[in-house]
Amino acid sequence: MNFKKIEDLLRFLKENGNWDSVYEHSNALEVALTSQSIDDIFGLITKDSSAPLIYESGCGSGVTTAQICSDLSERGINKYRLVAHDVRKSLVELARSRFSDNDNVGLELRSGSDYSDIPDESVDGIFSLNTMVPFLHAYYCVEKDSQAHRDYLRETSRVLTEEKPLILTYLWKSLVLVKNSKIDKDIPFRVKLYSNHPAVEIFLKVLDEPFKK
Ligand SMILES: C[S@@+](CC[C@H](N)C(=O)[O-])C[C@H]1O[C@@H](n2cnc3c(N)ncnc32)[C@H](O)[C@@H]1O
Repeated sequence: MNFKKIEDLLRFLKENGNWDSVYEHSNALEVALTSQSIDDIFGLITKDSSAPLIYESGCGSGVTTAQICSDLSERGINKYRLVAHDVRKSLVELARSRFSDNDNVGLELRSGSDYSDIPDESVDGIFSLNTMVPFLHAYYCVEKDSQAHRDYLRETSRVLTEEKPLILTYLWKSLVLVKNSKIDKDIPFRVKLYSNHPAVEIFLKVLDEPFKK
């Protein structure tokens, strides 16, 4: 099975119905981040912020948290606060033990849909790594969940500072949404085009439809 487009993946899901079967296919999507686009993302995060505040939603055991720390360090960014969170207590505890000697990193038991205690426009970047596929799955295949995902996008947009990014990826194959409040307040994000892959076009529709209702 070769997934060339998100549609292929969605068709496969509808027929097979579970994510584990998709994870067997490392080529599920072909939207890849390049080192240049990663530089660009970290440039957005650090723009106008000498000590950026970053959230990571769905950090699991902290594998991708370590990846973010290493990317920040490679770019000479050593002053930051990274709050990594997950809904599974055992994973949060595991991740907490991994980062016990890193004062820049904090671990929280928190859902990505609960940012209610975080002030408006206070965050410089939100990562949700290897979680993009469940995001799209919920939108396309489990229609009743689409409101939860609209709420998620609204909340992440509320807490992000102007022009700061939300990065949704699957195996580092990525879509980057940049907070947009100047162009149209009803569409809180615009997609930063790092690729002309059809996935980007599909994702634009995901963003466009709910916010125009
Ligand atoms: C596929 S794993 C990815 C974990 C990690 N980012 C990685 O790549 O190793 C998805 C993670 O999202 C977490 N998760 C699911 N729903 C969540 C939510 N609403 N808020 C935060 N985390 C969530 C799961 O517990 C799981 O650890």
